[in-house]
Amino acid sequence: MTDYTPVPEDRFSFGVWTVGWQGADVFGPGTRPPMPADRAVRKLAEIGAYGVNFHDNDVFAFDAAPAERRAKIGAFCKALEETGLVVTTATTNLFSHPVFKDGAFTANDRDVRRFALRKVMDNLDLAAELGARTYVCWGGREGAESGAAKDVRAALDRYKEAFDVLGAYVADQGYDLRFAIEPKPNEPRGDILLPTIGHALAFIQTLERPGDVGLNPEVGHEEMAGLNYAHGLAQALWQGKLFHIDLNGQHGPRYDQDLRFGAGNARGAFWVVDLIEHSDYDGPIHFDFKPPRTEDDEGVWESAAACMRNWLILREKVRAFRADPAVRDALAEAKLDELARPTLAEGEDWRDVRDASPDIEALSARRTAFEHLDQLALEHLYGVR
Ligand code: GCO
Ligand code: MN
Ligand code: MN
Repeated sequence: MTDYTPVPEDRFSFGVWTVGWQGADVFGPGTRPPMPADRAVRKLAEIGAYGVNFHDNDVFAFDAAPAERRAKIGAFCKALEETGLVVTTATTNLFSHPVFKDGAFTANDRDVRRFALRKVMDNLDLAAELGARTYVCWGGREGAESGAAKDVRAALDRYKEAFDVLGAYVADQGYDLRFAIEPKPNEPRGDILLPTIGHALAFIQTLERPGDVGLNPEVGHEEMAGLNYAHGLAQALWQGKLFHIDLNGQHGPRYDQDLRFGAGNARGAFWVVDLIEHSDYDGPIHFDFKPPRTEDDEGVWESAAACMRNWLILREKVRAFRADPAVRDALAEAKLDELARPTLAEGEDWRDVRDASPDIEALSARRTAFEHLDQLALEHLYGVR
């Protein structure tokens, strides 16, 4: 049992926009004052974070004049230096300004697409300067509300073109940056392109530099589509594409709740921590949540600290689960070791199974013991083992 205090080795990071969210939603304005990026950095360091991710416009306004832009970046950098917080990741705001009302890389209007590429290149320069290694691309406005207004195949051509152009820019500049696409099924658009992990994985294979593009899957986004987030992460890992993760909480298919990590689907969160803990994922343990609109400043920091605390609590539980001798026996009984064995033996080919004729009745009657294994997991999660 620890006191669940985060340490730098935990590599916890937050989007500057998470704690800075003022609480404006479709039904009402914000309930909290604006938070400059440098304050977010200082407070995040205080509560034990290791790193940050930022959109260009979390640091300076969309229409900031060059001097103001420089001053805001200067204050951000000063806070980073003074706290030792690392910029792990960066991203572009291609969704707030009205110019992006029909998307950025896939807007029907070609001038919007050309401006979007320029905006990303500007922030890639800053990201590289600040030492970010991952560049997140969330295409929130890349989509449609209606049918004929978006030719999806043409839009995907333009989406691919954007990644090919930006990939060439990063290569030509010699930046050590990889792109991470963040899928989402809907909100703010009625339907968003690249809606799930699977769609994005298939898209990446069409790019000129597929090795430099991976994924940034978010808990809530997969669960909004009724999907199993841990399974999606596992496939991304299996394909060498888990470049980043956006952790938060969600209660099933509804609007994007962005709850603190561990709130929402707690059982799902247990399997996420188990998977990441027992994988070679070495990116930041990144939280992309929104402190609810009900919270004041104190509540914002309680909510942020709770994301890390919940990860550490669940980490303790998954470690205890994996170390439990009863679980080891149950895993063997459930034949997990057998699943890891190739179906054909060394030197065998299809001829060796062409006439496979086991005792079907006996095979069908074999015990799986899955319920026993899952109950052990739940008892660890519920805190009775
Ligand atoms: C959402 C998204 C965003 C993006 C972020 C990065 O909640 O719909 O997750 O928070 O992650 O804007 O561009
Ligand atoms: Mn979200
Ligand atoms: Mn996100």
